[in-house]
Amino acid sequence: MSYFRDNIEKMTGYTPGFQPNQVEVVKLNTNENPYPPSPEVLKAIAEIKPEQLRRYPDPMGNAFREAAAQINGVEPDWIMCCNGGDDLLRMAFTAFCDRKRPVAYPVPTYSLYPVLANIQNCKVIEVGFDKEFNLPARLARVRAALTIVCNPNAPSGTIVKADELAELAAEIKGVLLIDEAYVDFAERNCTELVKQFDNVIILRSLSKGYSLAGLRFGYAIAKPEMIKGLLKVKDSYNVDAIAIAAAAAAIKDREYFKQNIEKVKQERGRLTEQLRGLGFEIPESSSNFVFAEPPSATRSTSSGQPRAKEIFDKLVQRNIYVRYWDLPGIENKLRISVGTKEQNDTLLSALKEILDTPREIHRISGT
Ligand SMILES: Cc1ncc(COP(=O)(O)O)c(C=O)c1O
Repeated sequence: MSYFRDNIEKMTGYTPGFQPNQVEVVKLNTNENPYPPSPEVLKAIAEIKPEQLRRYPDPMGNAFREAAAQINGVEPDWIMCCNGGDDLLRMAFTAFCDRKRPVAYPVPTYSLYPVLANIQNCKVIEVGFDKEFNLPARLARVRAALTIVCNPNAPSGTIVKADELAELAAEIKGVLLIDEAYVDFAERNCTELVKQFDNVIILRSLSKGYSLAGLRFGYAIAKPEMIKGLLKVKDSYNVDAIAIAAAAAAIKDREYFKQNIEKVKQERGRLTEQLRGLGFEIPESSSNFVFAEPPSATRSTSSGQPRAKEIFDKLVQRNIYVRYWDLPGIENKLRISVGTKEQNDTLLSALKEILDTPREIHRISGT
């Protein structure tokens, strides 16, 4: 008999994006922000006193909670600090899902959701997006205990309107978790929905918009009753003293944040235009990445591989990393994080070279 529960024994764990060790790479595979965090963050970390490390941290992270509440136009008891947005996702599965309480979400989406469902051993209802990544109407009818909508969605980068999510929140009996990890790069967010609905939770991350993926900090916004329930399943000290101070400094520096986001958006526009110029098909992105289908008359290469896989491999040979999935429906797509101008230019010239090179012809011997 295995030491592990059956579902853990059978499941495959989450595969994080590749983190290369070399410095000399163009890393556009895990949607990190290409610019550094606010200088206020480094100042806050430098000011940490030994006493703050000797003691346990504030379990509620109130310094951050208060700043985040002000920025989002709610009271501090509407905010809960998390060890990255992923921590909130895990809490949601623990709090709302079990064998009789399924999770539902539109696909393709963030590949951590099914992994957390497997850990929790709950039923998963995946509802396919259409080609334009519109919110599937069926999502409201599947009777899930937890419905997750990633908005903007990963890996498509597309966004659905707050009105549509309001309709969904009103129709379902369970909880609607809106994963807004990438919303800082979008033109609108769904904060207003937590004020209108008891069953809405919003997830935010400081990994992308605030350039703090290494810090591990995110937060939930929801009505105080919902936050109270989630606190029951939170690790007591899920965010550490350094992270609380650094995250509070980051979120308070609004000027730096706005400039950072603007730079990413500008580069996103330029990258999208240039990639489309090379023949890639890309839906409009509201995130810090683009979802690109390579130009190809046929979907497969002569070796039978999807065209995207061949481009991915050739980019790796040039020390350029983007994300590729060998999964039904998205096997001929690349997700490319928006880098600095220099990184994007390196990628674009590599792609020009790759697309200009005649493809290898694999002859079958004897013909
Ligand atoms: C859609 C989505 N949600 C949530 C997260 C969690 O982000 P973090 O745990 O870094 O805050 C990620 C990270 O890549 C993501 O892509």
